[in-house]
Amino acid sequence: MLKKEVLDALNEQINAELYSSYLYLSMSAYFENKGLPGFANWMKIQYQEETAHAIKFFNFVNERGGRVILKPIAGPEVEFDNVLSVFEKTLAHENHVTDLINNLVDIAIQARDHATQSFLKWFVDEQVEEEANVSKILDTLRLINGEGNGLFMMDREMQQRVFVDPNAAAE
Ligand code: FEO
Repeated sequence: MLKKEVLDALNEQINAELYSSYLYLSMSAYFENKGLPGFANWMKIQYQEETAHAIKFFNFVNERGGRVILKPIAGPEVEFDNVLSVFEKTLAHENHVTDLINNLVDIAIQARDHATQSFLKWFVDEQVEEEANVSKILDTLRLINGEGNGLFMMDREMQQRVFVDPNAAAE
């Protein structure tokens, strides 16, 4: 059985993951509008990943006999300055999510909830990967000044990203 403080924090995180998915879908729409289908694809897959993260928390709360309470999802930003700025915001957002996950781990430790700590390990590792992926994209964008032929080539590369459902193996 989940303690109340852990359950509340897990429900908050479901909301944070759904907000992340909403934010990245908004970024995907921005790229579609700018004629960058590869970047739009990358962000749409990011949206699918965040939705899968929310479902991972959703399934865990249910498995532990907790009650999932869904809350309103805040509206995402819809306008951005340029491609570089979108990825700067993405990295800042992922840094924020890492803080949220670390905070959740602290709450689970304080509650002596070992099962939740074990569950959260996947997210701790995932955040390392997410931050590294976005940092790499930012480095490349800075190299090409976020424009020109380099951006066109990069857009084609971003088109290659495919969604791998992290929940598929577990179900
Ligand atoms: Fe659900 Fe991008 O972390």
